[in-house]
Order: sequence, then C-alpha cells, then structure tokens
Amino acid sequence: MDPPRTSHLSPRKKRPRQTGALMASSPQDIKFQDLVVFILEKKMGTTRRAFLTELARRKGFRVENELSDSVTHIVAENNSGSDVLEWLQVQKIQASSQPELLDVSWLIECIGAGKPVEMTGKHQLVVGRDYSDSTNPGPLKTPPIAVQKISQYACQRRTTLNNFNQIFTDAFDILAENCEFRENEDSCLTFMRAASVLKSLPFTIISMKDTEGIPCLGSKVKGIIEEIIEDGESSEVKAVLNDERYQSFKLFTSVFGVGLKTSEKWFRMGFRTLSKVRSEKSLKFTRMQRAGFLYYEDLVSCVTRAEAEAVSVLVKEAVWAFLPDAFVTMTGGFRRGKKMGHDVDFLITSPGSTEDEEQLLQKVMNLWEKKGLVLYYDLVESTFEKLRLPSRKVDALDHFQKCFLIFKLPRQRLDSDQPSWQEGKTWKAIRVDLVMCPYERRAFALLGWTGSRFERDLRRYATHERKMILDNHALYDKTKRIFLKAETEEEIFAHLGLDYIEPWERNA
Ligand code: CTP
Ligand code: MN
Ligand code: MN
Repeated sequence: MDPPRTSHLSPRKKRPRQTGALMASSPQDIKFQDLVVFILEKKMGTTRRAFLTELARRKGFRVENELSDSVTHIVAENNSGSDVLEWLQVQKIQASSQPELLDVSWLIECIGAGKPVEMTGKHQLVVGRDYSDSTNPGPLKTPPIAVQKISQYACQRRTTLNNFNQIFTDAFDILAENCEFRENEDSCLTFMRAASVLKSLPFTIISMKDTEGIPCLGSKVKGIIEEIIEDGESSEVKAVLNDERYQSFKLFTSVFGVGLKTSEKWFRMGFRTLSKVRSEKSLKFTRMQRAGFLYYEDLVSCVTRAEAEAVSVLVKEAVWAFLPDAFVTMTGGFRRGKKMGHDVDFLITSPGSTEDEEQLLQKVMNLWEKKGLVLYYDLVESTFEKLRLPSRKVDALDHFQKCFLIFKLPRQRLDSDQPSWQEGKTWKAIRVDLVMCPYERRAFALLGWTGSRFERDLRRYATHERKMILDNHALYDKTKRIFLKAETEEEIFAHLGLDYIEPWERNA
C-alpha cells in the first residue's frame, strides 16, 4: 500500500492510528470500479483481514473498511450464509441491491488471478437466495452450502496453477524427491500426496487450525507444516538440500537418459560433478546419455510456451504431410496451462486407415532427419493388444507407439524474441514426446498423457472406489466385466461417476 499522497505535506496533524492495510485505496489504484468489497472480520480475525485487504487492494480491488450500502460483495471466512445474514441484520444497513455473500476462497482466487473471477456455487455462501421475493423476507429456507469435504483423491479436487501454499508444497516436493532418490516409496508417496492436497486449497495455511479436516496430512507432515509456520523453514528440508547424495542425484538425473540406477552407480563411484563424469574414460554411456550430455545446457533450460507452440506448428506440418486427417494435440504440462515445461508432449491419432498410422512416426523422423530437425530419437514400437485388460499398476507405461526425441528448433520458427535465447543462437535442443494411439482410444490416451498426480489418483480411485481398471488405453468395469467406451474425457469421468475436471484444474 502506498501511503496517502498528501500525508507528507500535512503538518503533524493527529490522525487516528491505522494499520497500513486498512487505509482505503486511493481512487487511482482501483481497477475494478463496479466491485465494492467488504471483508467480514468475524471469525477471520483482524490480522488475516488486514492481510487480505492489503493483497486485494494491491491488485486493484476496492475494499472498504466499513460496511455501507455501496458494498456489492461481502466476503467471509468460516461463516455460513446464515451467519453472515444474521450479522448483516444487526448492522441495519439498508442496501438497495443486496450484496453477494461469498466465501473468502472467491477473493483469494481473484487476488491470484489479478482480476474478478466468476462467482460459482462453491464460492456463494447461500443458495436460492432471493431478496426480491417480498413474500419471503424471513430467514432462508435453503440451508447454506456446507463447507465441502476435501477428498483424499486428487481427481476429486480442482487444482489450478494458483498455489496458495507454495512455501509448504516446495518443501514437500523436495522431501518427496529425496525419498524417490533413496527409493523409499512409502514416504515419497506421503510427501507427494501432502504437496498435492495443499496445492488444491483455495486459501493459504497460516495456522495449524487451518489444517483441520484436510486429508493426506499425517503427523509427520503436520510437524513439518508447523515448523514452517513458526520458523519460516523446515530443518529437514534444509538438511536434504545440503545432503551430498540429494545434490548428486539431482544433478545426475538432470541429464537426459540418466535415471536412479545410473545415478546410484556414479555416486558410489565417488562422482559428484558432471564434468568429472563426462571426462571419465572408463565410463560407458548409452546413446541417450551421450545426447543428454551433448545438449545438456539447452535441455535443462525449460521449454517456454512460445517454444512449445513453435514446435507444435512443425509437428503438425510433418504429421499432416502424411496423414492429413490426423488430430495432433499438445498434452502434458502445457495442456494443463503450465507456462514452462521440461519437454513438449503430443498425442497423435487419426480416424483413417491403421496401416498408414503404423508408419507415421517413422516417416516423420525420416522427414525431420532430412531437414536436420532432429538431434536424437528413440522410436518405441507399439505393444498394444486390443483385448488386454487395463493395467492395475498406477504408473504402468502404456503400450502405444511413441517416440522420445530431441528436436532442433530453428530460431526463425519462433514468433517473438525469447529472452532465454542468447544473441547468435540459431537453434535450441528441445525434448519432445510423440505418442500415436488408435482413434477409438484417444480419450483414454489424452487423459493419461495430460498427466500429473491427478491421473494416478484417477486410476487409484477407479480401482478402490468403483471396482474398475483405468489406464492410458481403456476403462474396464470388473463388476459388469465389460470395457466402457469413451469418445471424450468427459465420458470417462462420467463412467467413473466423477465431476468433470478441466485440464488446467489437474495440476495436482
Ligand atoms: N507418460 C506416460 N508414459 C510415459 C511417459 C509419460 O503415460 N512413458 C505420461 C505421464 O504419466 C505424465 C504425462 O505423460 O502424466 C506427461 O509426462 P511428462 O512430460 O513427464 O510430465 P509433464 O506433466 O508434461 O511435466 P513437464 O512440464 O515436466 O514435462
Ligand atoms: Mn511434459
Ligand atoms: Mn513427456
């Protein structure tokens, strides 16, 4: 908050003490004139109210300190709709048009988005509210929407990229990764699930009270949250970040083609840096690892959306040269709305003949080799059989034909100048995954390749809650002993009895 502009001009005039956050915004800071917000202090507390007020004002929202009849949106926390109404009645404010009664999650989303977001049922504190109906001026007949229970499954939560708990999720992501490096699967899962559920919360955890009722937070996890709330950091995370094994594994696995086994070997051999590994004559590298070292700098620098779009144009050009009716969809993190990725993933499918399909990826590779657009590729033939039951393993690989490659993106294919491209750089190595699936499997493949933890929990949910098996190829109902067909992702959710979750809400 800027101080009021006139303050330094006025002589030492006594004004009532105000905290910075509770000073009203000056009109020039207000971006959304039609919206007048009032935040209810009851049950929220002064500190949090001041904090939210300041955040909202910084984003250009008009937040009033006092309730008046100009208020259009009342935001409350831990209050039901009737709590707020009751409070309003005591205030005796005659508003000509009744304000919206909203949960604080709406305001937090607005702050995150930097603009007003749509008010939906999950934000509105009461349903069926109709003040214009003069025959029904009394208390509401419809009960307020109860605070929805948060599911233990990521596929029953909406997780956008708006993470209000990054300070915690970063910590758990690091702890999970460390467990992965130590092949401690159970702890890895515990930390991943904690990070995942925290990413879905529409509010920031500021006290241990806020963690009540949230699933996937065991005592170990809660202990870490408490430490971060109190000290701003976790001693365990600090120790991991300083741990030699963690640092080495992080470094080694950053090379394309290097996994846990190779990292373990190099670590045991006493290597701690990539330059030592590279110059060690006795080590044998796979073709993939050699490519990984060769293009290391480019591959560790993330792929931007502009780069991904440029690759997309080239992928489509090549695919359509051979299969003009093919559908090419960017999947993975970019489909979930991420601005950066470690690679670009594409799903290709065509309603046409299957023979052409089988040859497609090889034809594209041949074309790109001729044009000098591919630096490395590994084409994996399909092992797909139509009648195979879906895999029970949550992270089983699929059987589609695919190609893991390193693409050579020429600078002139980029629309705009990219800050990450130094002058004189004429191309950049970019990891690309291409997957080809039979047309009737496209919905399952798309769901699988759009990914994140979300997708794993979807399979877990299918198994444990629906007696069904889901994987990247199919959905099988064990009770009815039939495969359930689907043309779209929406249909798969419907088969599972789940509300549809958009790709950008799957960043679990
Ligand atoms: N996937 C898969 N089979 C593979 C590789 C990946 O089914 N052999 C799926 C993964 O389950 C994942 C999705 O494809 O959900 C995308 O994988 P990946 O590119 O590794 O992750 P992203 O979510 O795209 O994240 P990033 O930005 O790091 O690429
Ligand atoms: Mn990806
Ligand atoms: Mn990928």
